Amino acid sequence: LVVEGSGFTAQSRDEVRYFEHSLFLIDDHGMIQSVIEPGDERYTVEKNQAQERGVYRVIPEGSYLLPGFIDLHVHAPQWAQDGTGLDEPLEVWLGKYTFPTESKFADESFAHLVYGDLVNRMLSTGTTTASYYATVHRKGSLVLAEEAERLGQRALVGKVVMDSPEANPDYYRDASAAAAIEETERFINEVAALNEHSVQGIYPVITPRFIPSCTDEALQGLGELAARYQSIAYIQTHCSESDWEHGYAYERYGRSDTHMLHKFGLFTRRSILAHSVYPSEEDMRMFAETGAVAVHCPLSNAFFAGAVAPIHRYLNAGMHVALGSDISGGYNPDLYGAIRQAVISSRMLQTGVNRDLTAGERGVADSALTLNNAFYLATAGGGESLDLPIGRLEAGYAWDAQVIDTTFPSARLPIFDTSEPDSDIFQKILNLAVPENIRTVWVQGREVINK
Ligand code: GUN
Ligand code: FE
Repeated sequence: LVVEGSGFTAQSRDEVRYFEHSLFLIDDHGMIQSVIEPGDERYTVEKNQAQERGVYRVIPEGSYLLPGFIDLHVHAPQWAQDGTGLDEPLEVWLGKYTFPTESKFADESFAHLVYGDLVNRMLSTGTTTASYYATVHRKGSLVLAEEAERLGQRALVGKVVMDSPEANPDYYRDASAAAAIEETERFINEVAALNEHSVQGIYPVITPRFIPSCTDEALQGLGELAARYQSIAYIQTHCSESDWEHGYAYERYGRSDTHMLHKFGLFTRRSILAHSVYPSEEDMRMFAETGAVAVHCPLSNAFFAGAVAPIHRYLNAGMHVALGSDISGGYNPDLYGAIRQAVISSRMLQTGVNRDLTAGERGVADSALTLNNAFYLATAGGGESLDLPIGRLEAGYAWDAQVIDTTFPSARLPIFDTSEPDSDIFQKILNLAVPENIRTVWVQGREVINK
């Protein structure tokens, strides 16, 4: 495949590079083999050859290429309750809405219906890689991995572990710590087998829901699995998510949950830790030293934490940071929503919102995220955190890309001046694009959406 087009890719936390009529040469494994710029002597040769071979695609004027987005925190079964129930605090919401919803995924045909719909929706809104929590059911969780594989999305999938009889209802939990560990190990091997014939990558994830849901025995056992399967499996959980959850770990252990996850062997370079709103300086050092990623979920944080994670501070401390939708704790299923919310929330953190305090006392200096910063988190930052060659439109990376048509009739973006700066077009796309504007999506060189 050879694609000619203009578009945007993140260079760094702050910089976005605009490219114009670049020629992307994509190999049989869906990797960008090289990028040739107009003016290069090979440009016309390669373009003509591709046309003759019938593998040439040109992205039309008014349409732009972006890297596919990487959503590192998604509760797939909660798609069935998305948009509801967010007027309750986390600990009430779980028991009142979420556990009843997730318990329905014992039925594999229901799992098939919901998971297929969600994966399709995410692909059609530009999310080419996702890290998913399924449910406690091993078989239902495998349905999610199979759907992602079939529909062509790169996915990290976890069977949720929640074995504590005190914290979880009898109708929805693992039968015991031993059963949770055994089922997780089986799941890891089943997903690894699926991954053997996957083009884009389907990876198993060891997934203790969060410390309050699990017994020490389960956490310990999962930590041992994490060590044994470190080259195959990722690890994910919630960490320092709300005052309640953050305080819970201190009550149970006298330490932060971040510290305890490390103690259980669940805090490594392969760990994907959702939220991390309240890490201490010591916790932040642990992130930087291990290379674990903090997944910023700004919309969910508005509801369950009522707080804003200081992302610049994390990045300055050398932490990996990525972006997550946290469906359904955040109701927006696409990362455009998370990008926008990350910027909005950070602005409120910067200036402060309590008008009873004086300006200057209200906010936290140097907190504001630019659209460029948020775009980096949604693309290159996510890729770096997973240590996978994804998130950039550059040689050596997977061809995971989305085409944004700014001229689509029912969703035309307000671009009227032909000499409009590229940076303005980029900002209009990130702030204003709706699903109709996203016309083509590729994952690992495979066209998975064409509308
Ligand atoms: N903490 C434990 N479980 C959950 C969940 O399902 N969603 C969110 N946002 N936080 C959690
Ligand atoms: Fe979550």
